Amino acid sequence: MKLRVGVIAALFAASLCARGESELSETQRNTIAFESLSRLQNVDLKANPQLEEAVYRLLQKVHGTDKFLEIVKQFHLKDCDPGLLELAIKAPSSETGVEATRLVVAHKNFTLLQRKLESSDTKTACATAEALGDATEKDAVPLLLPIALDARRETTLRRACIRALARTSEGATALLELAKKGTLAEDLRFTASTELNSVHWANIKAEAAKVLPLPLARGSQQLPPTVELLKMKTDSADGENVFFRAQPGCSACHALHGKGGQVGPDLSEIGTKLAKEAIVEAILEPSAGISVGYETYSLDLKSGDEAYGLLISDTADNIAIKDTKGIVTHHKKTEVLNKRKLKTSIMPTGLQQGMTAQEFADLVAFLSGLKKQ
Ligand code: HEC
Repeated sequence: MKLRVGVIAALFAASLCARGESELSETQRNTIAFESLSRLQNVDLKANPQLEEAVYRLLQKVHGTDKFLEIVKQFHLKDCDPGLLELAIKAPSSETGVEATRLVVAHKNFTLLQRKLESSDTKTACATAEALGDATEKDAVPLLLPIALDARRETTLRRACIRALARTSEGATALLELAKKGTLAEDLRFTASTELNSVHWANIKAEAAKVLPLPLARGSQQLPPTVELLKMKTDSADGENVFFRAQPGCSACHALHGKGGQVGPDLSEIGTKLAKEAIVEAILEPSAGISVGYETYSLDLKSGDEAYGLLISDTADNIAIKDTKGIVTHHKKTEVLNKRKLKTSIMPTGLQQGMTAQEFADLVAFLSGLKKQ
């Protein structure tokens, strides 16, 4: 009885809103329809044609917003993949984008994914590759690999596919195999090398260091011992530039006064917390002393995929993990086979290879000057 009343109320609200016979604005009407429909639990849409119509009408109105994803999830809709993928392409690295991509993969809509990856609009194709990478879906490997290897396609897209492949151990292994056979194209080697040398699977990383060593320009130089390094003449302003540079990529994970990523701890006052030697050590050996609250976890999922990152929350039925890009994904406990706490930091080792010794010294000088005001 409760359900019937709920359905009727939802229908009433939804139809009122659809007809626009009220003083409310379009947005307000959509919000009411959304609120009332999203309260319904376990309703069989096929048994309620009117309700089904109301749901699809609302979907059109909230197209391209988070609400679209909510409704699709709520009613387990299987025929909304194009709309889901549009959401993902709009913001591939957002939580909504990742969840939308996962749903399309779960629906095994590979034809649609492939069509987008082959889109003549490179931006769309690249965003699709990025979304598949951020969703860390091993099922995407057979879609991404042929495009990465197709020399007729644009290099930007092929590189996006390489980055996406490196996000799963299956994809990373496939790339290593190509590199070993010598069939990885020149214009992809740098991307593959950068990505594979910073993965967290120790065996793949070790193999990558041999097969696809990082470019020599910066890293070939031997880093002097810490005492020598700290005696070098330094320039903090140069150090700040290094911090915000794409390589070594510190600011992708760390923020300084609100600028930068939210994966690692804020470093705005790191000079007060750590001595210079300790800063050097934190960069060279991230796993030596992992800060409390930043422990790394790995989840084995029933789908065969792996979730890797920081544990954000762990409740009775849900586990939330933040990955190295700062994207939080929620996993139902029923989908998790196994949760392991790792001894390694999610801050990668080998970051010094993205800097010269001088730049490393400048970076340390800059960080140690960041003091509590
Ligand atoms: C993939 C994300 C990531 C990248 C890239 C990264 N870090 Fe980190 N960093 C972390 C995390 C997470 C922690 C906390 C866990 C730990 O202590 O290892 C951390 C810890 C630190 C600490 C210790 C902080 C403390 O409060 O004790 C320092 C210093 C640091 N990082 C500096 C750097 C510098 C400099 C770079 C660039 C050369 C860098 N990090 C790149 C994620 C990252």
